[in-house]
Order: sequence, then structure tokens, then C-alpha cells
Amino acid sequence: MSKYITTPIYYVNGEAHIGHAYTTFIADTLARYERLKGEDTFFLTGTDEHGQKIEEAAKKAGKPTQVFADEISAKFKNLWDEFEISYDKFIRTTDDYHKEGVKKAFLKMYEKGDIYLGEYEGNYCVSCEAFFPETQLIDGEFCPDCGRSTSIVKEESYFFKLSKYQDRLLELYEKNPDFIIPKAKANEIVNFVKGGLKDLSITRTSFSWGVPLPKEVNNPKHVMYVWLDALLNYITALGYENSQEQLMYRYWPAFVHLVGKDILRFHSIYWPAFLMSLDLPLPKHIAAHGWWTRDGEKMSKSKGNVVYPKEVADAYGYENFRYFMLREVPFGQDGDFSQKALIDRINSELSNDLGNLLNRIIGMSSKYSNYHIDSKDVLKYHKKELDAVDEILEGLDKFMEQVQPNRYLEELWKVFVIGNQAIQESEPWVKIKNNQEDEALATVALVANILARASVMLYPVMPKTAQKIASALKFEIDNNSYERFVNNKELLSPFDIEKIPPLFPKIEEPLLKDVKKEEKKEEEEVKQEKPKEENQDNLITIDQFFKTELKVATVIEAQEVKKSKKLLKLQLDVGEEKPRQIVAGIKEFYSVDELVGTQICMVANLKPAKLMGIESQGMLLAAKDDEGLCLIRPEKPKKPGTPIG
Ligand code: MSP
Repeated sequence: MSKYITTPIYYVNGEAHIGHAYTTFIADTLARYERLKGEDTFFLTGTDEHGQKIEEAAKKAGKPTQVFADEISAKFKNLWDEFEISYDKFIRTTDDYHKEGVKKAFLKMYEKGDIYLGEYEGNYCVSCEAFFPETQLIDGEFCPDCGRSTSIVKEESYFFKLSKYQDRLLELYEKNPDFIIPKAKANEIVNFVKGGLKDLSITRTSFSWGVPLPKEVNNPKHVMYVWLDALLNYITALGYENSQEQLMYRYWPAFVHLVGKDILRFHSIYWPAFLMSLDLPLPKHIAAHGWWTRDGEKMSKSKGNVVYPKEVADAYGYENFRYFMLREVPFGQDGDFSQKALIDRINSELSNDLGNLLNRIIGMSSKYSNYHIDSKDVLKYHKKELDAVDEILEGLDKFMEQVQPNRYLEELWKVFVIGNQAIQESEPWVKIKNNQEDEALATVALVANILARASVMLYPVMPKTAQKIASALKFEIDNNSYERFVNNKELLSPFDIEKIPPLFPKIEEPLLKDVKKEEKKEEEEVKQEKPKEENQDNLITIDQFFKTELKVATVIEAQEVKKSKKLLKLQLDVGEEKPRQIVAGIKEFYSVDELVGTQICMVANLKPAKLMGIESQGMLLAAKDDEGLCLIRPEKPKKPGTPIG
């Protein structure tokens, strides 16, 4: 059976970060694993290049859209090449064959009666390329996914009859409980579909950077909605309706589409419905992973805390980084990148558990047998250990099939524990002295065989590292060695182990510039510079001071700002006709309940400003130091609006 594995195609409006790398690493690992087992595998990745978002990003960069898309797409491709990602094809949605395939698919659905012309009006988020129902908007305006402002868009549009497929979709989820991985995520989707599916607007007239409709439809104003165009990449890449179509017969349906949780809905509802309309078989799994944060915070360009894969890889090693990402997070859950966690895993799991094991047998065999290793007595002295190892290795397959690379690695590491324990318990250095040479050498050979089998299984995650281990043990990792050592449990033939340098030198301290520390340093520097300023021109006159209107105010209402860790929205009585609304960064220090009814002091003549899209008409006074923040309040209650000064 063939296996077709895909990543999402990445938008070309920014550089790849660790989120993109994560999906790509998992897909690459699955593809390498399948090939190792001898499966006929096809691995697809690429870039998603149409839509308003890209058009606008290009404009901002002052470049023609295609030139801009070419540049960023090439950056993605180069990055994956540097990581030696083993994709079989890199698709670009601006490729001609893709556009032709998309038009053919559109026409098929249109002729079938699944597409009709209507009018769409809705709240559209340009950034997410999606319409959102009013009920989902934050404060009636902001996008529930990215927090940006949405706008009402009304336009003529072609619709896909998504509603027609509601029952078939529900049947699909019911009959295939592992269609969505992890299962916990399936409920959300099932409930969403049960809630009723509206027909989907699949064309736009408000911009032009997209695939035009097929000429048979005869409506050149429209371009295709970017998600219809994008999802179809999974079949156009296999030559859907063109001369390469034999790939379609060979690889479709996909074994798994890997996606992030934010695009699960598109893949588990729209995509199967489109395929049903095209009378094509459905993918076996849609596997959705969680999101990565850095040091507990959401990554964003403005915060300057985005983790770029190449920076991490250059500092810590390409495969060490890849191991960390796959091992750190249970598939489906959100994960956090921190240098501490990365260093801990490199030092303890890679260096101590695995690297040391290899060093130990290189060291012992150099002393006891002039590097020669012979498996002849392994089963005599260590059958129990080897059986335990094989049992673990036999159990690994299901973790890859269920897309749980973290569990796969967790289990695999147990075999290194067995190896280390065997050395500890049988103490070959004592046996050698006691003339029990056979037994001592059998322990060394046991560990060599454990490492041989484990390196084959490690290969999908750390290909080069695994090959290095194998070459020290004088074999190559490929389908043949998988068959021999893993499937048929063959022992290594006698060989001389090669002395290689340690694979995972210990890391003593963080190797990347730490964002938080840098910020602190800057703050310190600013603080230290301040007194200088004060000595110079930092004094103000009393008139200047009184330009600031400070007033006492009473908090009449307080609310948390959704999606914000820091902000509260307060309604204040400042003795004016209407209450004043201010947005303040005090959520971490005060609860809503303890504020209402109390008094605070505020700057009342600040120009209004927007925070998370919410107007703030003033600023409250507070004192903040390392221990926290406290509000400045009148010592005794005062009438709201009482001036301070
Ligand atoms: N172009 C669409 C996908 C179309 S597939 C037919 C898209 N592109 S994207 O570049 O915005 O995102 C690609 C993938 O990166 C998504 O799976 C998304 O979940 C993932 N990630 C983006 N930020 C992420 C993190 N911070 N952490 C983990 N993955 C994240 O969506």
C-alpha cells in the first residue's frame, strides 16, 4: 500500500518559524519511517501564494506580487533543503499545472450543480482570509482567530453547496473515528457540523490575485477563494486531470494531511466535502497539532520573540533541534520552546542516555578486545535484555501510525535504559579481571546490538545521527538493515567498532540571545541613563505640570479584555455626564471584583488611544516595581472628578 503524506502549504507572507518547521519535521519523519519500512511513499510540501493577504504584503514590500511570492517561496524551499527535508515535490499554487487543475475541479463541481451564484455579505478578516459570523467576533468587530479588525464585505459570489454534504460528513466522522487525530479534536468538528453547515462562498471579486474561474463559467470578475485553491493542491500535485495523473492513481487518497489546529476545520469539513463533490476517495487521517509559544508567550514579530528554525539549528544542531521538537510535545497539544528545555533534552537524553552508551562500548571494546565486537555469546548471557528491547521496538509502529512521534521517542529511549542498566549490572570491568572475558564481551556486544536496532528506528527522526551510529557499527541504515535488524532480529556479524567523536557534546549555557534577558538589559540601561537626563533638561515648570489633568475617579464597572493577558476595561465615574472608559494593563494584579466601587487616580486629558481595538480615554496612576503593581488611590473617599494637584 502506498503512503501519501502532506504538510500544509505555507503562506508566502512571512518567514518560516518553528511552527512551520514542526509540521514539516513530523511529515518528514513519517515519510522517512514509511520508506524505511519499504512503503511506496510520496511526501508533498509547498507554498500557498494567492489571496488578498499576499497581495497586500507584496504591496507593502513594494514588489510585484509574483516577484514577492517567488522570493518567499524560495526561502521556504531553501530552508527545507538545509534541513534535508525529504519531500518528493514542492508545489506552488502559482504553478500553471496547479491553476489548471483547480479550474478543472471548479468546473466539475459547477457542472454537477454543487456551485451556484449568489451574494455574500459578512465580516471578513483579511489576515485569516475568512469570513466570521457576527456571534464569533470579539466585541462585535475583531477576528476571533487573530484579533485584528474585520470589515463588512458584500459581494457577488459563487457558493459551494456545503450544506448538501452535512449528513455525509457526519457519517464519515462516525464510521472513521480516527479520521481526525487526535480524537479529542474530533468532537469540536462534529459539533460544529451538527450545528448546521452554511453554503460556502468560494469566489471573490474584491481583489484579483487568485485563480480565475474556468472560461466555461464565463465570469471573469471572480477569482477563487484562496482556501478552495489551496486545498486542491493535494490533488493537483499528483497530476489531477493532467498528464501526470498516474501519480493520482498511485498515491491518492492521502494517508495523512498534517495541519495545525487552526486549520483543522478547513481540512476536516471543507476538504472532504470538496472531494465528495469531485467523487474522489477521502484521506485516511487529518492530524492536527497544537501551537508553539516561546518561553510561555505567543510568538509575534512585534514582540521580537519569534523563534526561527535556522537560528536554533545553527546554535544547537539541526537534528538535536528536530529531536527536541518531536519529543517535547504530545501530538495535538500546545508546546513551549525554551532554551532550557532544549538544553535539558540534549544533555540528558541525547548525551547521557544515547551518546554515552555508544562511548561506553567504544571505550570498553578498545580496552578488552582491540575494538572487536562479536555477538556470538549475546543470547547466552543477555537473551532477557534483548527480548525486552525487541518487545519495545515491536510496539513502536503504532505510534507512528497514530502520529505520536513523542510517544515513539519516549518508548525508543527505554531501550537505551536497558543497555545502560545491563552494563551497570554485569560490570564487564570486573568480569574482565576475573577471567570471565566471554561474559564481559557479550555485554559489550549486547549494547552494540541494541544500538544497531535503535539507530535504525531513530533514523526517521535523526537521519544523519542515526547513520553515524550505524557507520560506527559498520552498517548502513536502509530498508535492508530495517528488515535484518528490526524485523528479523538478526545479530550483528563480527566487526571492529569505529572510534568516533562524541555525538552530543554537553551544552553548558544558552547559545541563543534570550529575548527576555535582552529586554531586561535594555530596561536596566534605560534606568541607568535616566539620572543623566534629570541633571540636564528634565525639570518642568509648574505650568507644564498643570497641563496634566489628574483626577479622582470611581470604578463603576470592570471587565476582562478577551484574549488579553494584561488588559482590563474599566468604566469610571469622573464626575462627568457619561462614564469614561479606560483600558489598563492591570489584569495580573487586580481582579474585576476587587476594583468595582473603589477609587483611583487618573490622567483625564490624555488623547484617546486604542488598545486591542478598544478605546481608552485616559490612564490610571499606578506604581510598579519588581514586586508588582499597586494603584495610587486617594487616602479618603473624594467626589468623582476631584482634581489632584
Ligand atoms: N496556507 C494555509 C494552509 C493551506 S493548506 C491547504 C496556512 N498557512 S500558514 O503559513 O499560515 O500556516 C501553516 C501552518 O503553520 C499551519 O498548520 C499553522 O497551524 C502552523 N502554524 C502557524 N503558527 C504556528 C505556531 N506558532 N505553532 C505551531 N504551528 C503554527 O495556514
